[in-house]
Amino acid sequence: MPSPLYNTASIADMRLRARRRLPRAVFDFIDGAAADELTRMANEAGFARGRLSPRVAVDVSRIDTSVDILGFRSALPLMLAPTGLAGFYWPDGEIAAARAAAKAGIPFCLSTNSVASLEAVAGAVPSVKRWFQLYMLKDRALMWDMVERAEAHGYDTLCLTLDLAVQGRRDRDIRSGFTVPMKLSSASIADFAMRPRWLWGALRRPVAFGNFASVKGLGALSVAQFVGTLFDPTVDWAQVAEVRKRWRGPMVIKGILNPDDARRCVELGAQGVIVSNHGGRQLDQVPASIEALPQIADAVAGRAAVYLDGGVRRGTDLIKARALGADACLIGRPFLWGLSAAGEPGVDRVIDIFREELAIALALLGHPVFSAIRGDILVP
Ligand SMILES: Cc1cc2nc3c(=O)[nH]c(=O)nc-3n(C[C@H](O)[C@H](O)[C@H](O)COP(=O)(O)O)c2cc1C
Repeated sequence: MPSPLYNTASIADMRLRARRRLPRAVFDFIDGAAADELTRMANEAGFARGRLSPRVAVDVSRIDTSVDILGFRSALPLMLAPTGLAGFYWPDGEIAAARAAAKAGIPFCLSTNSVASLEAVAGAVPSVKRWFQLYMLKDRALMWDMVERAEAHGYDTLCLTLDLAVQGRRDRDIRSGFTVPMKLSSASIADFAMRPRWLWGALRRPVAFGNFASVKGLGALSVAQFVGTLFDPTVDWAQVAEVRKRWRGPMVIKGILNPDDARRCVELGAQGVIVSNHGGRQLDQVPASIEALPQIADAVAGRAAVYLDGGVRRGTDLIKARALGADACLIGRPFLWGLSAAGEPGVDRVIDIFREELAIALALLGHPVFSAIRGDILVP
């Protein structure tokens, strides 16, 4: 039987489906970004630049979309990015997304700020290639405990996010009064009442920060208050080096936009960097990820892996990112839109859209092997 999502043609279509199911404040928390959202828009618009040069008369009967991601043969050059509160958009959302990633043969990165705890996800989806994303916490005992829990539960790569020393100022969330859990007001009650299917799920699985179960009395906080209470704004390179020393597996540093910072990451022993502006959610007016990528790839110079996220919406975006130096990309909002629209089948569909778009693009470019793509595929 065809999936009821078969006529959801694109990631943009999936976004509209998510908008129909989610309360406005929740949709805006996912969709929105800092200030005027110029960087969020530039992330997507950046991929519209440059053209791909097709070759003809090439045998494209076998397409290979797979890539090596730190020793794992990923079926696609794609990972599910760490995103907080996935279980708020769909009951057990982190587990649904991890299952979809496992089926597709791509890595899944669990956020520090997940609703399901890292133990719950590992227990429910033992087969997924899992990364754990860490924020530096003020309470180092709590942080090292989380790191040890992640290691003990089979998260083999640590993704340390460094672009959230403080929370960015997101106008949409300030306007809606978004808190976790949501505070009830006449506006939020009216918003929820319009979305009974979401509300039913949210009532069955109350939202909480699953990895912080030991921290009592957090109450209904805005995400900015949560970050201000728990996250450490004093982090410097020495403290990053300390994390590198204590974590035994591969470590990837996320939130890099500057080539000198990328060099520092490599020097302190990171196996990869993620070129990212947090989907434009932190500081507006910083470069689009795809604009920052070439300089960072040059600075890293093959000494570590280079990944990119921000604005990846099409199979051809994966090809452009590869041409400009990325080994693979991560997606944040696209899979959250799929999750919010339809749960696990929604995430399956999002990954399928990328798979189909990528395979068709590789065939029509006369480049059957994704990993063989070089810069010369791009024309200005
Ligand atoms: C709702 C939401 C929550 C996020 N939470 C986290 C997080 O907890 N940790 C993190 O490192 N990045 C987080 N991010 C950023 C993503 O990992 C990623 O950098 C970003 O979404 C990529 O841009 P895209 O949404 O355009 O794909 C979040 C993004 C969104 C949209």
